[in-house]
Amino acid sequence: MPCPVLTIDGPSGVGKGTVAKILARELGWHYLDSGALYRIVACAAMERGVDLTDGAALAVVASDLDVSFDLIGPDGEVILLAGHDITAEVRSEACSRGASIVAARPEVRAALLTRQKQFRQLPGLVAEGRDMGTVVFPDAALKIFLTASPEERALRRHKQLNQKGLGVSLSALSQQMQERDQRDSSRAEAPLVAAADALQVDTTQLSVEQVVAVIRDLAKKVAYLR
Ligand code: C5P
Repeated sequence: MPCPVLTIDGPSGVGKGTVAKILARELGWHYLDSGALYRIVACAAMERGVDLTDGAALAVVASDLDVSFDLIGPDGEVILLAGHDITAEVRSEACSRGASIVAARPEVRAALLTRQKQFRQLPGLVAEGRDMGTVVFPDAALKIFLTASPEERALRRHKQLNQKGLGVSLSALSQQMQERDQRDSSRAEAPLVAAADALQVDTTQLSVEQVVAVIRDLAKKVAYLR
């Protein structure tokens, strides 16, 4: 039997990261924050002065990332690049914007594909992003696609950034998220789209605990995830 995978995809600010981390912890499974990989490529490229539209140079950056992820606290995560804690930096607006630019380059996606697949290890993996169910783990046992209204997503991201001390105005954030969603949905390579066999959950009116409960119940119905 293949190593089980639960994929959680959806647009920015929908709460994928929060629920994916809680579920990974509950199940005792590994966790893949694929968006962080694109963010780290953008951060590292900017640090090295690499043009964010130069696919070949970006692929080199993506191929030799010395990165590791640690889950801490109830739903926290620490991201280390070459041993340095870059957790706060990767959430900055510059890295968020950069991530969606580099993520449109096929060379970058190809360079990150093998690395993402390597996260699939026993006893199982919870993987979150934009193309987990469509491209990276098309054979996942359970695929979830989360949605929420654009207003609610901007509010959630605003609250999250404020809690991390990364203050930004709600209207500016809302506009940046719309731009990013537009770029992610319209790109040719692995656009943001629900897999045909994904179960869609509208989270606009749901709390984090309610979303986790919905996914937990769905997972119980999939024999090999139990
Ligand atoms: O999920 P997060 O907001 O951290 O993702 C940052 C960016 O990385 C997204 O806007 C998207 O462009 C890109 N991404 C992607 N495919 C994924 C995960 C993220 O293209 N699987």
